[in-house]
Amino acid sequence: MFLHPLMPIVGRGKEMGTTSARRATVSGRTRFRGTSGTIVLPSMLMFGVIVASSGLLLMIEKGILAEVKPLPLHPSRGQLTPWRRIGSGRATSATEDVGYQVLQDIRNRTIYTMCRQKNMPHSIWDLSVGHRRTLLKHILVSDKYQFLYCYVPKVACSNWKRILKVLNGVLENVDVKFKMDHKKDLVFLSDMKPDEIHYRLKHYFKFIFVRDPMERLLSAYRNKFGEIKEYQLKYGVEIVKRYRKNPGKTLGDDVTFSEFLQYLLDEEVERMNEHWMPIYNLCQPCAVTYNFIGSYERLHEDANYVLERVQTPSFIRFPERQAWYKPVTTETLNYYLCNTPRGLIKELIPKYILDFSLFAYPLPNITSEFCRQ
Ligand SMILES: *[C@@H]1O[C@H](CO)[C@@H](O)[C@H](O)[C@H]1NC(C)=O
Ligand SMILES: *[C@@H]1O[C@H](CO)[C@@H](O)[C@H](O)[C@H]1NC(C)=O
Repeated sequence: MFLHPLMPIVGRGKEMGTTSARRATVSGRTRFRGTSGTIVLPSMLMFGVIVASSGLLLMIEKGILAEVKPLPLHPSRGQLTPWRRIGSGRATSATEDVGYQVLQDIRNRTIYTMCRQKNMPHSIWDLSVGHRRTLLKHILVSDKYQFLYCYVPKVACSNWKRILKVLNGVLENVDVKFKMDHKKDLVFLSDMKPDEIHYRLKHYFKFIFVRDPMERLLSAYRNKFGEIKEYQLKYGVEIVKRYRKNPGKTLGDDVTFSEFLQYLLDEEVERMNEHWMPIYNLCQPCAVTYNFIGSYERLHEDANYVLERVQTPSFIRFPERQAWYKPVTTETLNYYLCNTPRGLIKELIPKYILDFSLFAYPLPNITSEFCRQ
């Protein structure tokens, strides 16, 4: 992960609807290392993120949003208006819609403001070979419907892969029971030549789905170390050996969440497994100008919006959750976070700070005040 000297502060009530975003300037290169090898962010950047995130929460809480008028920065009605229900979406109240509209707008502007900085990549050709390879391997292509989808593991990516397989005609419908092969019958941008990549990035509809970074990590942890033997052997055994005082004999199936987070702290972001690599590194939202950013919190509505936008046949709908799926609830997340040493979370946040800030997720509240409840 590389850092940048400027951090926009958005979401201040008064300034909504204008293009101005306040910035906190931090001079000089902002890369330096903390004791455990992680990059420590300048406090100004953290401050900016906190203000941006909590300002938004505050506004939602106070219900100010109900009075916010359509924001001028957004496309005019009838164009891309993701928050408006089109056809199959679940009905939501008008207030919720306005709130979502503001959230989309904050995301949009934060990404725009941060990605405009000089030291951020402005196209995929600005990326190092390694970064570009990771990105292109995560972008799925539909030539028939002219879209690119950057998949993020633990954000319903299997469902999108199912849809792509149905669109390619290799699967009859999204509900067919089969074991997902994450590579077969799918077209990745990494399979293409530079001019083919360039053409698609320029002309296709591009989207990603994002999720609260901590929730995503917990979901990866519970799934991989709780259920998948291959991961327990490949990562679990090593993690326990490295971070437990008296590891004893382990099958790697008893990794604690704290041990997992400690492991993440020591891992280089670029070399992480895709299930816990930051979304920023997987999808490079500065190098690729995504047309739409959906979120896990509004999975079905956002997915249906995309399906309508790219004009897939009407029989294609976003799959329902599998019956066996155990969602991470807010309570579960808080339980895990509150039972993890606070310092560990604080140290880890900088690694995922771009996921928090670009996609407007509030930093986890791990104050003792909050955890006592
Ligand atoms: C952000 O806003 C611009 C201009 O209104 C629009 O073209 C773009 O699609 C939006 N991007 C996202 C990710 O919503
Ligand atoms: C964290 O939670 C406590 C207790 O609910 C609350 O008083 C405090 O304002 C919260 N802090 C942040 C930064 O959200």
